[in-house]
Amino acid sequence: MTPRKDLLDIASLSNEEIEFVLANAAPFKDLFRRSVKKVPPLRGRTVLTLFYEPSTRTRSSFEVAASRLSADVTHFDVEFSSVVKGESILDTVETLEAMQLDYIVVRHKQAGIPNLIARNTAASVINAGDGWHAHPTQALLDAFTAREVLEDLRGRRALIVGDIQHSRVARSTSLIFRRLGMEVAYLAPGSLMPRQIPDEITTFGNWQDAFDWKPDIVYLLRVQSERLDEPFFPSATEYHNNFGLTDARLKVLNDRKLWLMHPGPVNRGVEITDAGMNYERSLINQQVENGIAVRMSVLYWLRPGAAPVA
Ligand code: CP
Repeated sequence: MTPRKDLLDIASLSNEEIEFVLANAAPFKDLFRRSVKKVPPLRGRTVLTLFYEPSTRTRSSFEVAASRLSADVTHFDVEFSSVVKGESILDTVETLEAMQLDYIVVRHKQAGIPNLIARNTAASVINAGDGWHAHPTQALLDAFTAREVLEDLRGRRALIVGDIQHSRVARSTSLIFRRLGMEVAYLAPGSLMPRQIPDEITTFGNWQDAFDWKPDIVYLLRVQSERLDEPFFPSATEYHNNFGLTDARLKVLNDRKLWLMHPGPVNRGVEITDAGMNYERSLINQQVENGIAVRMSVLYWLRPGAAPVA
């Protein structure tokens, strides 16, 4: 396998690279059951988290992952940095470059910013979510989690429900699921369904048709209100009644023993209810725990200073 400097999306990964990251996440997860959870591979390395958008799970799990690999971890607080005085992304990166960091984990509302940074630094750049484009570590942790419960994903079905249009998670996770042999379908209101969808992805406009398709996993998405210039549906109640996982729909999941996933954060009362959060086949907390193991595996795999893949 050619050493890889950056992780920017799922599309550019080979199957071998995906399998390498997933396979190495398992022993890292085994560490979490031990009293000492730290191992030395990144001793002497520095990881910087550079988040221009809010995050709970991704940022903290990268920081925990880096620290469990014995790296030094620093957070760049954009709100209190010279970015607010107008410093450009590239000038910020040049300044960071002088600090000889090894890994930069970046989230930005604009698609392509992690790629731009990757081209201008010797550090390994990991895309922690860029606009609507990609969220590759979310996809890897979703695949790892789905495999924990379904084992072989070939021939299995995932129904992704909600704001597909604005979701980097839907793009990245549907891609990795398909690469691993799953069939993927989208269920969304017309206003939140992308105009261009790969032919292999089935689309639905209502839950009944989607349930008839017999999914193994129902993967809910939050409506990304922060990316909506204007309302894409009349009200949260209307959305919940038509596209949310109501208690009646949750009963169908329970009767058919379907698995429930969500990348978080959730909006209770919109795409999910309190009962949905407590559903016994919900994998939401497992996704969060696996996020640390998968991100340890990603940090372990990337090679700072390697030639960027064209
Ligand atoms: N799933 C996810 O990216 O969550 P955060 O926005 O909390 O990082």
